[in-house]
Amino acid sequence: MAIKVEVIEDLSTLYRRATRIIAEQLADGAKTFGLATGGTMLPLYENLRSSNCDFSQCTSFNLDEYVGLEKEHPESYLSFMNNRLFHAKPFKQSYLPDGEAEDVQAEAKRYEALLQKNTLDFQLLGVGENGHIGFNEPGTPFSSETHVVMLTESTRRANARFFNSIHEVPKLAITMGISTIMRAQCILLIAVGEKKRAALEALISGEISEQIPVTCLQKHPNVKVLTDIQLKGV
Ligand code: F6R
Repeated sequence: MAIKVEVIEDLSTLYRRATRIIAEQLADGAKTFGLATGGTMLPLYENLRSSNCDFSQCTSFNLDEYVGLEKEHPESYLSFMNNRLFHAKPFKQSYLPDGEAEDVQAEAKRYEALLQKNTLDFQLLGVGENGHIGFNEPGTPFSSETHVVMLTESTRRANARFFNSIHEVPKLAITMGISTIMRAQCILLIAVGEKKRAALEALISGEISEQIPVTCLQKHPNVKVLTDIQLKGV
């Protein structure tokens, strides 16, 4: 299997390793980075902010954005990226889907077209407890491109920790599709905490199934996984 798993129990060591992988990508000439948000990425972006990585000649594309949150809302993914990374480490150009677009379906198409013109050298991924990647929820076809998605109750509950209550969590998002993500040249997935065990086990040793979106990565030729979860046989 092409997936390389590194189990690193100490989180600061794990995040230092993730930071080094990105620094090596830059040194090897990667120019186009797919980025993720979420709690998993916070320590990584903190490390990157104080690193000597220079993204000023690079382009970034984020995986996803909520629909209907103002860009200035502190939990929009644009705000997340500005506050956690871009203000300290600007890219030449950074793209996110526009969750405030009047026609979100057209916006998803526009974002996909942009991604078809720009191969991602590197894609960073977290994973949801239900196995989602980006906001591709269970049942999303592996052939999907960037699209508008209805978030599941489980994802909204998991993300409610960033809002005052679950009622404030948007119900829709725009996300890169599974086939969009699979076009990236190389993928780094970070999964931290016992809650991610089931998703990770499915990725490492489960059957490939659209019911657990992360399992699509078994078909990708260049995936690295960093986790603190002790897995049988790894
Ligand atoms: C974020 C994203 C999501 C998260 C996933 C895990 O851009 O696409 O797939 O990576 O929901 O979120 P955390 O890291 O908060 O557990």
